Formats: sequence, C-alpha cells, structure tokens
Amino acid sequence: MNPDAARIEAGRLGGIPAERLPGLIADSPKAELHLHIEGTLEPELIFELARRNGVPLAYADVDALRRAYAFTDLQSFLDLYYAGCGVLRTEQDFFDLAWAYFRRAARDNVVRAEPFFDPQTHTARGVGFDVFMPGLLAASRRAHDELGLSVGWILCFLRHLPEDDALRTLEAALPWREHLLGVGLDSSERGNPPEKFARVFARAGALGLRRVAHAGEEGPAAYVRDALDLLGAERIDHGVRSVDDPALIRRLASERIPLTVCPLSNVRLRVFPDLASHNLPDLLRAGLMVTIHSDDPAYFGGYINDNLLQLFVAHPELGGKQAYAVLRNSLEASFAPDADRALWVASLDKLWAHAAR
Ligand code: ADE
Ligand code: ZN
Repeated sequence: MNPDAARIEAGRLGGIPAERLPGLIADSPKAELHLHIEGTLEPELIFELARRNGVPLAYADVDALRRAYAFTDLQSFLDLYYAGCGVLRTEQDFFDLAWAYFRRAARDNVVRAEPFFDPQTHTARGVGFDVFMPGLLAASRRAHDELGLSVGWILCFLRHLPEDDALRTLEAALPWREHLLGVGLDSSERGNPPEKFARVFARAGALGLRRVAHAGEEGPAAYVRDALDLLGAERIDHGVRSVDDPALIRRLASERIPLTVCPLSNVRLRVFPDLASHNLPDLLRAGLMVTIHSDDPAYFGGYINDNLLQLFVAHPELGGKQAYAVLRNSLEASFAPDADRALWVASLDKLWAHAAR
C-alpha cells in the first residue's frame, strides 16, 4: 500500500478540522454520475436560445422564470423542465448547453462526468439524433481536449412513455452506439415501475451498454429492488426510499450497489423537508456505497460542490471520513476504465493524506 493510502487507512481523516473540509471537498477530484444535461439549461441560456431560434417564452425575463422554480413534487418540476427544452433546436444549441456545463464542472474539479440525455424529449419535437448527438459529442470532445475531462454519455428512456417508444429510441440510437456508455431510466416514477422496461433494458444489455435507473426517489423501495432484478441496473439513481426495506439495505450494502444521491434536488422536490432531515447519514451508517451529485443544477440551485458542501454543513455529525468516502465512491462507481479510476483515486488520496498529516 502506498503511504498516502496507508495514512488514510489508519483512520486519521476524522481528525481533520471541520474548517478545512470545504476547501478539501472543493479541491478533490470527483465524478458527476447523476446529472441530466437538459437540467443544466440555465435561465439565461433559455432566453438566449429562445431569442436565437425565435421561440416564444411564457415568462417576461430571467427573474420571472427563476421565480417559477418553486416545485411541489417531481411532476411539477418535470413540467417546467420539458417546457425549457423547447428552446433547444439546433446542433449548436446542444453544443452550447453541454459546453457550458463542462466548463462549470471543471471548476468543481470534476474529472469524470457521465451525463444523462433524454432523446425522446427532443425527437417528440422533431429534433432528431442527427441534431443533438453531434452537438453533445463535439462538446464532450472539446471538454476532453481542453479541460482534461473524461465523459461518457448515458441515454435515458422516459418512463411515462410506453416501452415500445423506448425500444424505437434505442434502435434510432444504434448508429451512435460507439459513443454511448449506457442507458438509464428517468421521468415520472410513480405508476411507471421498472418491469415496464424489462425488454428494452435486456436489449441494451445485449448491446453491451451499461445500465442504471432512477428508483426510490418518489417511488417505493420495491422499485429499487426491481430495477436491480428486472433491469440489471448496476447503479441506482436516488434510491433514498431504500431505507423502508431493511432486507434491501442489507443487499445494497453487501453487493456494493452505488446510490447516486442528489441532496438539493431531494429538498427542492420535497422528498425531504430540508437538508438536515436528509437520510444520507443513515445510508452511510448502513454501509452503503453512497455518492453525491447534482441532478438538475440549473433548477435546484447548485452544482456538485454545492451539493457536497451544503450537505456537510447541514450534518455536522459527518466529518472527513465520510467526505472522503463519498468522493472516493464517486470515482469508484464510475464506469471509466480501471486504470483511469486508479489514477483519480491516487490523486484524491494524495490530497487527503496531506490534510491528515
Ligand atoms: N429527469 C430530470 N430530473 C429527474 C429526476 N430527478 N427524476 C426523474 N426524472 C428526471
Ligand atoms: Zn435524476
């Protein structure tokens, strides 16, 4: 074991003074594994693209739009999120969206991003794969070349639509197969159980695509179990309702299934009343492989470092040990090649071992 890892193993992280944690968290290399690229569409860019494309908006200005971001549940958010996507029309629009996100992520020391995108939101408006894929891919190539950011795209199926629609979407994506890391499942959870998408996930698995799924955000713990068993999900997005099923919690811990948790999203969508009531400390105590991410940062008031920092401020019972754990988990839970993950973990260890001296 190298000396950095040994110092961390020796459990000295708990001794890091609380005032040093924000700087350490911000400076740490990290992976963003739960982020909808359409959810990074900032109000300013919505207005710019609306003007560029001649799309009428229902709000007078950026402030009026921001004031509308007062959500009561997942559906009230999704209604505005899909409406916002209406300004995305051209390849350049998708490039501008993704490039703005990657520049923002680099400032938070994100070294690996596995963003979701929602093809059906665009194809339903007559905007095809030939428009959004070249724009998104040009942005991720530039992020790699200029920012050193490693990116893998995850195509999400909208669960409020029929499975046949998802199957057609997967077929339409085949010309872009080599540029896809995996598939996911998002949108309205309640009433749209994992079993509805078993065939399309089986097909994606046969194509060698990695599989993740939103489950246990608003929906029950049983959806988390079914996402694992019926969809072959390797990571669960959110998964916070897993605590309702002790057997499931034991399984998630023993199989080291990552839960990509988004604290600010959960508060804004009223999954928890406030950050202090968030159950992330319980999930960590139960030995789960928890990671922290930003979901739809343009709508929920914070990117990945904001989520990490605010969560740790709201939970003073958590310290250096837990902060290091969630950061390390993010790198290990990514689908990047082993050699890349090992390098990122080594640079994380170097930073934290120095702080633990
Ligand atoms: N699409 C964008 N954000 C989402 C979320 N938090 N849950 C489900 N679908 C989404
Ligand atoms: Zn999400």
